[in-house]
Amino acid sequence: MVNATGHTVGIDALAFACPKAYLDLSTLAEARGVDPLKYTQGLGQEKMAIASPCEDTVTMAVEAGRLALKNYGIDPKEIGTLIVGTETGVDHSKPVAVYVHELLGLSHRCRTFETKHACYGASAGLTASLDWIASGRAKGRKALVIASDIASYGLKTAGEPTQGAGAVAMVVSHQPRLLEIDTTTIGDYTRQVMDFWRPLYSKYAFADGHFSIECYLEALSEARSVALEDQAEPIETLRACLYHVPFVKMAKKAHFQELCVAMGRDLDLGQPADEQLFANSFARKVAPFLRFNAQVGNIYTGSLYLSVMDCLSQIDQQGLGASIGLFSYGSGCGATYCLGKIAPTIHTFTSALDITSQLVQRRRLNIEDYESLIAAREVSDQASRLDPSDYNLNHGLAYVGTRNHQRQYEWLSD
Ligand code: CAA
Repeated sequence: MVNATGHTVGIDALAFACPKAYLDLSTLAEARGVDPLKYTQGLGQEKMAIASPCEDTVTMAVEAGRLALKNYGIDPKEIGTLIVGTETGVDHSKPVAVYVHELLGLSHRCRTFETKHACYGASAGLTASLDWIASGRAKGRKALVIASDIASYGLKTAGEPTQGAGAVAMVVSHQPRLLEIDTTTIGDYTRQVMDFWRPLYSKYAFADGHFSIECYLEALSEARSVALEDQAEPIETLRACLYHVPFVKMAKKAHFQELCVAMGRDLDLGQPADEQLFANSFARKVAPFLRFNAQVGNIYTGSLYLSVMDCLSQIDQQGLGASIGLFSYGSGCGATYCLGKIAPTIHTFTSALDITSQLVQRRRLNIEDYESLIAAREVSDQASRLDPSDYNLNHGLAYVGTRNHQRQYEWLSD
């Protein structure tokens, strides 16, 4: 896919980081007196990553960014734009991105900023980076776009089982080694809706949950129509259909809607033939690429890209050069749909894309640990000194408290 400047553009590197602890949703269900099947089957989730007070948007973004540079052999000097998309900023004024810029050792000639639009911030950063490269302003340099969020809804709310935390870093370049983005297919959509928001005074998001699902599905329909100029999604020609994943079941709802559009009629899941048709399509194009999301939970602006990592880590020889559909949704709301093409060099990076070993190393929390971590996080912005060892953290970057109203970070070593 060649853009106006004669280059292919897209994603050259992808890496992931998340907190070192998780809560099993069956543990949460038991504590809340809910049938565990509601969370595991009804929402499709198995676990959610839980951040300690020493793990924040900056620490996760730095770890994901560090891996994206190291695992793909990219020199920090090659980065000419750094964008951090987040709903979970650590300061009303100072961007997360500028902490990340210093901690990754990027050049002072790098343009650096933060984007906020609920779960859409990183996708805004991705398309801005593609435009920056296509304009010629990049002058051969690459962009680093990092999605980093802690999804918090508060204890005993309907949103509680749809929490999570994590960061996905992507390097955007011409001649990308993972996924070419077809810039002629990018379709955008915006509409002011109150489906999910977080007032300045709250650490917890408010959501009109069922309405947010309607808004998501409407945005999908509209953004895809713009992208494909009102043609139905070419599901059969796509290797995978990847969606924003606030919880796994949402991707299933999205794909059902898309399949109805592709078939030109409403499928009836009460009819065995239609049920089989949908089950086959979902099993081939979507379900295999939701494994990581089911283990991590909602990571807001990174969640589509977690599914992208899962998909790209599983591409076989026939998948090289194949197209995939990508849908990003941020409440409030903003959305983008586009098509990507799998680069022929992808197999070199299969192990860098597979995050299974990262996930199995996490520590399982019981319900008391989980609730006390949430309580500790409520006051962590004002804590003068936090000890990472209290949270079993012994390597990587940690937030260690705020002194003189300035956040402090330290590198830990084993
Ligand atoms: N066994 C199996 N399934 C069960 C069950 C049981 N015992 N009990 C219920 N279920 C099923 C229900 O049938 C339902 O499935 P369907 O949607 O297919 O019918 C599912 O479990 C969920 O049940 P409810 O709808 O009754 O659950 P709820 O009212 O408690 O809340 C929620 C669900 C609205 C998603 C809530 O968790 C929430 O508000 N989450 C936060 C908002 C959110 O994630 N919105 C998504 C769209 S917005 C977006 O994408 C941006 C973003 O990231 C936030």
